[in-house]
Amino acid sequence: MSTNTSDRPAKITTQTVVDMKRNGEKISMLTAYDFTMATIVDQAGIDIILVGDSASNVMAGYETTVPMTLDHMIYHTSCVVRGVDRALVIADLPFMSYQVTAKEALISAGRMMKEAGAHAIKLEGGKPIAGTIRKIVDAGIPVMGHLGLTPQSIYKFGTYKVRATDEEEATALIEDAKLLQEAGCFSIVLEKIPANLAKRVSEELDIPTIGIGAGAGCDGQVLVLHDMLGLNKGFNPRFLRRYADLHSEMTGAVQQYISDVKSIDFPNEEEQYGG
Ligand code: KIV
Repeated sequence: MSTNTSDRPAKITTQTVVDMKRNGEKISMLTAYDFTMATIVDQAGIDIILVGDSASNVMAGYETTVPMTLDHMIYHTSCVVRGVDRALVIADLPFMSYQVTAKEALISAGRMMKEAGAHAIKLEGGKPIAGTIRKIVDAGIPVMGHLGLTPQSIYKFGTYKVRATDEEEATALIEDAKLLQEAGCFSIVLEKIPANLAKRVSEELDIPTIGIGAGAGCDGQVLVLHDMLGLNKGFNPRFLRRYADLHSEMTGAVQQYISDVKSIDFPNEEEQYGG
């Protein structure tokens, strides 16, 4: 039951998304990395905004997520938090800000909450990171897990291909998912794994799964905002549905502006000040 008595929309919490799974309502999640985009995505009614370390690719132009630092992620997250009224804002802990020791992970997660204003953090990995997750959750910080294709490990995998297609990796993934739930995760991202495996994991867990390239059996879906808006022409994975072609829209707008400036069509009488 909602306790919201104002005109403002009820804020989404980690408990809300757990309840959504229980009630059979699918969860919508998109990434955002800056104030303006976060405002649009939040006002459109998204449930969760992920400040993903995919910022490394789409904002900073790196090939992988590995170069992202905690300070970069704190900056992006604080920009997003200032644009959001309703959505749950989850921030990725970047590579090497949580893997070395549980103490360091706790400090990183704490900075993300205190300095950036995140509502929860996400980190990648299964069994090796479960103890660390327990400590972060015990400190009062909600954690989202991330299994399957974990892009911070790209140099270990050597490829962005679908994960857990063989029985051994699929069995390990199911065990990892259960361990993350036991460790206190409120939700888990499943990235690029077979749809039947993601469905099975989703059915066996009480906490919601959020899929990207993991099929319709997940409890929710996430896409990178720039990809689903059609800003990235060169990225065409099977799982991506484009909801707009902003690359063409923006190119057209910029070309029209250039033409208007060159032809002295812009600015016109109404677009300048009298003296
Ligand atoms: O960094 C990111 O955007 C992510 C999503 C793809 C789940 O982790």
